[in-house]
Amino acid sequence: MKWSGTVSKGSPVFHRKKLTVVGAGHVGATAALLAAQKELGDIVLVDVMEGIPQGKALDMYEASPIQGFDVHVTGTQDYADTANSDLVIITAGIARKPGMSRDDLLSTNVKIISAVTKQIVKYSPDCILLVVTNPLDAMVYTAKRVSGFPKQRVIGMAGVLDSSRMRAFIAEEMDVSIEDISTCVLGGHGDTMVPLPRYSTVAGIPMTELMSKKKVDQICERTANGGAEIVAYLKTGSAYYAPGAAVVQMAEAILKDKKRILPCAAYLEGEYGVDGYYLGVPCKLGGGGVESVMELDLTADEADALHHSMDAVKSLVKQVDSFGHF
Ligand code: APR
Repeated sequence: MKWSGTVSKGSPVFHRKKLTVVGAGHVGATAALLAAQKELGDIVLVDVMEGIPQGKALDMYEASPIQGFDVHVTGTQDYADTANSDLVIITAGIARKPGMSRDDLLSTNVKIISAVTKQIVKYSPDCILLVVTNPLDAMVYTAKRVSGFPKQRVIGMAGVLDSSRMRAFIAEEMDVSIEDISTCVLGGHGDTMVPLPRYSTVAGIPMTELMSKKKVDQICERTANGGAEIVAYLKTGSAYYAPGAAVVQMAEAILKDKKRILPCAAYLEGEYGVDGYYLGVPCKLGGGGVESVMELDLTADEADALHHSMDAVKSLVKQVDSFGHF
């Protein structure tokens, strides 16, 4: 049998999207597999640990005939292999252990994010960056400063995860489908995050009308401690299935230009009274990255909680600035 007149591999006729995932650890590998299953594009896994991204990528690719996804998954230590990525997910860094807050990771992860971002920008100057590494609001700020990219193209993953946790807890409490639940969590990705029950609904009805205040408060508190709850179980690391799924939902919204309204850590310039910092807010996410920020009307208490959360982010960013990596 002979092929003729076919388009060769790598032909300029049609390009698949290209997605790079930096950090082939728990979150990165989970995100890569989920993105492959959704056929979001060819995937390049990068990690400093020799052999790890290559081995995990090959293992995923070998699952493709069973799972039925037609994308390539490759692993590398060489950033040249990431060239011309459309989207880059950064999960590189160290993860939390019991007793550590996300903020304890700051000084190590800021160095890692700076180094990774420089390499990514060199080879993919037009990509969109999705940062997952914690402490999130400070790491995405670092990536923006180092990359020099416009604010639309440097985005942090936090709110999608926090909202998903809240949805799961409401579904469990009410014994209804997760599909009918929509939640809203604003603020920094830490203990000060601001779940908004007024804007969290079951089939369009605010949860505040469906359960007692005590139950609402419990769900909000469990949401804010959602990451710590997993760390306490795992002991040797932090959550990765839900974080991986959350960043892939954002990647899909961007790569398919879906214009979804999703809570993202976005760089604010005046919105919510915040200027020059990242904070979790509802955004329109499409092919251009954060295409717009949605400003919700907040009660005085909600606005206070948001500004309290902003203060926590500011103190982290101050430390990042003091390291002088820019
Ligand atoms: N370049 C590339 N990869 C790196 C670098 C670097 N400079 N430094 C560390 N890594 C890799 C590690 O080798 C490891 O494989 O990042 C990976 C991190 O994986 P895990 O330790 O499994 O951590 P994970 O659970 O995936 O969490 C990663 O995401 O949710 C956040 O808080 C979490 O900041 C943490 C990050």
